[in-house]
Amino acid sequence: MTGNARTLVVLGASTDQLFLIETAQALGLRVLAVDRDADAPGFAVAEESALISTRDVAGICAHLDRLEKDEGAVFAGVTTMGSDIPEIVAAIAGHLGTPSIPLEAARLTVDKFAMKVRLRECSIPIPWFREVPGVEDLLEVIADRGLPLVIKPIDRSGSRGVFFLRPGCDPTDLFQKAKAFSFSGRVQVEEYLPGPQISTETILYGGRAVTPGFADRNYDTFERFLPQIMENGGWVPSLLSAEERKQVEELVVSASLALGISEGVTKGDVVMTPEGPRIIEIAARLSGGDFCAGLVPLGSGVNYVRTAIQIAIGETPDLDALAPRFERAVANRYFFPEPGRLVRIEGVEAIRARPWLHKLEFWYRPGEIVPESLSHAHRFGVFVVSAPDRATAQARVDEVYDTIRIVTRPEKAASRTRPESSFPPDRPSAVATRPGAIASGTRG
Ligand SMILES: Nc1ncnc2c1ncn2[C@@H]1O[C@H](COP(=O)(O)OP(=O)(O)OP(=O)(O)O)[C@@H](O)[C@H]1O
Ligand SMILES: [Mg+2]
Repeated sequence: MTGNARTLVVLGASTDQLFLIETAQALGLRVLAVDRDADAPGFAVAEESALISTRDVAGICAHLDRLEKDEGAVFAGVTTMGSDIPEIVAAIAGHLGTPSIPLEAARLTVDKFAMKVRLRECSIPIPWFREVPGVEDLLEVIADRGLPLVIKPIDRSGSRGVFFLRPGCDPTDLFQKAKAFSFSGRVQVEEYLPGPQISTETILYGGRAVTPGFADRNYDTFERFLPQIMENGGWVPSLLSAEERKQVEELVVSASLALGISEGVTKGDVVMTPEGPRIIEIAARLSGGDFCAGLVPLGSGVNYVRTAIQIAIGETPDLDALAPRFERAVANRYFFPEPGRLVRIEGVEAIRARPWLHKLEFWYRPGEIVPESLSHAHRFGVFVVSAPDRATAQARVDEVYDTIRIVTRPEKAASRTRPESSFPPDRPSAVATRPGAIASGTRG
C-alpha cells in the first residue's frame, strides 16, 4: 500500500460496486475493495483488496488499523453502493473518524418496521402497517382490512420474501415464506398502495438537498411473478408532472431528515397514490441495479456517485453539478428465463452491435443451473438501452427481448415433458459475473 495517497474503502467488490470504484479512481483516490469473494471483479480494478466479509466490522477495522500502522495508509473514507449495509458503513466510518450518517439512522433504515414507526411519528405519509408475529395476527388483519395487502420480512432487501396478498391467496403459506426470509423471523403487513412507483436518489449536504435520481419503476412483469412482487427495471425520465415530481422530492427529503440523515445519500421507494405521494421506504445508500450507474448518467449526464464519495471523504460537494445536462430516455430491464440448466443464449452478437445498447450482461454460463426467479437475487441478466424518447426506448427494449433467446432445460427429467424452453430473449457472455454479486443484498 503506498504511503499517504488517500484511499477510499469500498465495501463490496462485485459488479454492483464497479462504478463506485471507477468513479473514486477518477477523483484521484486509491481504492481498497473489501469482499469475501476472491473472484469479485472489483478486485481486478481496485488498487488494494481485502478478502474479508463486508459484514465483519471487527475484521475490517483490524485490517485497516494494520495498514495504517504498518504501511502508512491514509483512509479518506468508507462507502458502498448497491449493498444495503449502511450500519456497517457507519460503524467503520466511526472507527476511522470519517464522515457518515449516524449509526442510529443507519439502523432505522435497515429495519422496515422501526423505519415506518419513525416516519409515522414524524407525520410522513406511509401505508398503514403492522407487525404480525403469528399467522393468526395476519388473519385478523385480513378480516379487519380486507385484501389486497403486502407482507414482507422487516429486515431483507432485493424484494426477498415480499408478497402480494390478494383474494384467493394462501395467507398462511405466504406468512411462513416471508418469515423464513427474515433474519430475525419478523414480518410486517402493509396496506397495498396503488399508483405509479418511483425510485429516487437524493444528495443531502449543508442544509440543501438535490434529487438527481428520479426513475419510474417498471412492473410489466407484476402478474407473472405473483404472489412475489418483482420489479423489472425502470425508466428515466419519469412520466410524473413537474408538480408531482416536486411533491415526491419534498417528501423524500422530509423522510430522510425524519430518519436522521442530513448529510449523505438516500434512496427512496415512493408510490404516487391518488392521495399524493407516500413512502414505502428510504434506504441509506447508493442504488445498485443500474440506477445511479446507468439510468441517471446516460439520461442526464449527471454522476452523483462522485458527489456521494466527496461527502464520504469530507470534501464539500458541488451540488450545482447535479443539474441535468441533457435529457434522454433510458431503460434497464432483466431477463427471467425458465429455471433449469442453461443450454445456450442466442442473438447476442446481433444485439450487441446496436449503438443504443449500453449494457448486456448475463450472470450464468451454459451448463449452470438457473434457479426460479423468486427475488432480485435470482436475476439472470440485464440490459440498458437509450433513445431520444420513451416510445423509441420501448421499441428497443422489445427488440432486445425479441432477439435474445435463453434456452434452458428442466433439471429433473420427470418434472415436465418439454425438452427445452426459452425465455423470449437471450445469449452467452464473456461477462458471466457470479450471481452472488447480486445476492449480497442488492436492491435496485
Ligand atoms: N405497501 C406497499 N404498497 C405497494 N407496493 C409495495 C408495498 N410494499 C412493497 N411494495 C412493492 O414491493 C417492492 C419491494 O418492497 P420493499 O421495498 O419493501 O422490499 P425490498 O426487499 O426493499 O425490495 P426492493 O429492493 O424492491 O426495494 C416495492 O418496491 C414495491 O414495488
Ligand atoms: Mg425497497
